[in-house]
Amino acid sequence: MRVYLKLFLPILFALPFLGPVEGAAGEADWSKIAQKEVTLFYPGVASWEFLNGDDHRLGGREIKKGKKDCRHCHMSKEGELDLKAAEIASGSMKMKRSHSPFEPEPKAGKKGTMKARVQAAYDAENVYLRVEWESKGSGWRTKGEPDRVSVQMNRAEPSFARYGCFITCHNDLNSMPESPSRREVAANPAYGGREDVRLYAFYAKNSWDSPRHGDRMKTGLIDLKSIEFENGKSVARDGWVFDDRAWEEKESSGTGTWTHDRYSAVFKFKLKSADKFDVAVSEGDIIPVAISIHDEGASRRKHYVSFPLAIGLGAAAEVRASKLSN
Ligand code: HEC
Repeated sequence: MRVYLKLFLPILFALPFLGPVEGAAGEADWSKIAQKEVTLFYPGVASWEFLNGDDHRLGGREIKKGKKDCRHCHMSKEGELDLKAAEIASGSMKMKRSHSPFEPEPKAGKKGTMKARVQAAYDAENVYLRVEWESKGSGWRTKGEPDRVSVQMNRAEPSFARYGCFITCHNDLNSMPESPSRREVAANPAYGGREDVRLYAFYAKNSWDSPRHGDRMKTGLIDLKSIEFENGKSVARDGWVFDDRAWEEKESSGTGTWTHDRYSAVFKFKLKSADKFDVAVSEGDIIPVAISIHDEGASRRKHYVSFPLAIGLGAAAEVRASKLSN
């Protein structure tokens, strides 16, 4: 009897806590939905220009041809990352041709990689995408230095499916090595007095001050959603990247929390959205998604990023979204 009690009591006490913690999002019982572990890495200042240039050697040549994707060369069949991310984060590695550092402002102790767990589900109206990662929760526990998880999504651009968010990362963005001065940006009428250059897709602008002609907005618009954690609260934002990165005014539904040692965030977005700034998805679709995480108060470019990940809405893909029965 005593043995039974010893075994059962802790379980009984634990029961209320095992319940729908994640159910805070209300819609899915995440404990029943398959998790995919994803490795994110610290890219330093590795930009679209680096990726297409001589510093990337063989990689640059192949990306210009547009055939092989990042994983083809940087990930084993078993999903092991083959990329010198620790050397980038520590600041010890230089680019081969230019000898520029991959990280000009290294932070002591910054790790090269981190793991996140990704889950997805959908019902008749919405898609739910959950991301969870271990963290000390500095953004959640303090004011002023939020942590956040963001996703970029696009279904129509082959370059996005192959290279993900790297198609939006450039040497002239704010906090990147060739960023123009605040004054220069403010003096450019296209920026309306703003002082910083933000993400843009390579097919929408040649550089910060040189827009491209021809409108690829229909296929090229990248949906951007973000959940930010600060001072015990989460805030969800919905935006887009094309020739700029912008946030929309509308409410965005997404929730997140930090407990003990981890963040969890659930993005919620409509199926078949008619909003031109949203990715429109239906059952049976495969959606390429790129994830970035700003942790420990990291800001601007100092995030971890994933290669694009395919999410299947009831279709076979790396992450298969489960259909909810409600
Ligand atoms: C055709 C193969 C190939 C493809 C495709 C490719 N790379 Fe590379 N990548 C390489 C090689 C080879 C190196 C090492 C270059 C050297 O230093 O000689 C490299 C180096 C890098 C580095 C520097 C760190 C390191 O491990 O040397 C980063 C960062 C990187 N690649 C990111 C990417 C990303 C992101 C993509 C997709 C957008 C990509 N690569 C696509 C072959 C490739």
